[in-house]
Amino acid sequence: MVYLWSVLCFSGLTVALAIWLMISERLLVDYGVCKLDINAGEKPLEVDGGRTLLSTLYANEIFIPSACGGKGSCGHCKITVTAGGGPVLSTETPYLARKEIRSNLRLACQVKIREDIYVRIPSDLLNVRMFTSTVESIVDLTHDIKEIRLRLEEPDQISHRPGQYVQVQAPSLEEPVFRAYSISSPVYEPNLVELVVRLVPGGIGSTYLHDLQVGETVNFTGPYGEFVLTENPSVEIVCVGGGCGMAPMKNIIFTIYNKWPDRSCWLFFGCRTTKDIFYLEQFEKLAKKHTNFHVVYALSDKLDKNEKWAGETGFIHLEVDK
Ligand code: FES
Repeated sequence: MVYLWSVLCFSGLTVALAIWLMISERLLVDYGVCKLDINAGEKPLEVDGGRTLLSTLYANEIFIPSACGGKGSCGHCKITVTAGGGPVLSTETPYLARKEIRSNLRLACQVKIREDIYVRIPSDLLNVRMFTSTVESIVDLTHDIKEIRLRLEEPDQISHRPGQYVQVQAPSLEEPVFRAYSISSPVYEPNLVELVVRLVPGGIGSTYLHDLQVGETVNFTGPYGEFVLTENPSVEIVCVGGGCGMAPMKNIIFTIYNKWPDRSCWLFFGCRTTKDIFYLEQFEKLAKKHTNFHVVYALSDKLDKNEKWAGETGFIHLEVDK
């Protein structure tokens, strides 16, 4: 019993001390103006110390991927900090491999600016912009997936590669909250960004997007991502997915046949029932025009008596094996 009380008292004191340190740092410590050097002098900034690297970069219109709103729970905000970042924190280690720690990768949302700091950011990320757009149309693709088309206002064009994604800003009273969605519209439509969004019950991003009305304003940053279509037309492309995994595949396929009409490409799309099928007609039309494009949809659930389906059945990865 005495042992239990000692452990409880010790834990309580430790937590109280941590809270006291956090509050006193916020109220009493002034880190003044610090230098934030990006890519060895490419973009030197003077910033107020005391905030996280992620929010300081955001305030200076440098948008690092972040899917958890800076809470340290997504691991997306990795950047290289060559000096001034302090020791790696225990909140970062679950998201960083040993090799990444050795290469000075850090979670930008966990690193606080307390002194001059030196970071390296890939040039692709320095080109990421904040976009303002208007909802042009909303289509129910299935009972829980919507297609949302956003007409760009400012800037009015986006330059992206097929397979990349944007981060939509969901309304929030605290720090900005962003959620990532692949761009499903092809790259030859630079004035719009189309998203295919599945409603996740309680999800901040998908609930916001599913509640939108035509004409409303949506802000997002982008483009992001290294999962992109190879520019070598002799490489055959095989796309396999289901649900809202359709988004990057649609972008890739329509971009391919706009640019390389004879390129070889397969689409394998898995659905549970006929109610989950979407875009099939569009792809069948495309396949009639381009003989090197092959479309395979498969249903994994047993068909109901009233369901009509002449296509494949079973899990989609088995169709790929065939
Ligand atoms: S923003 Fe999610 S871990 Fe840093």
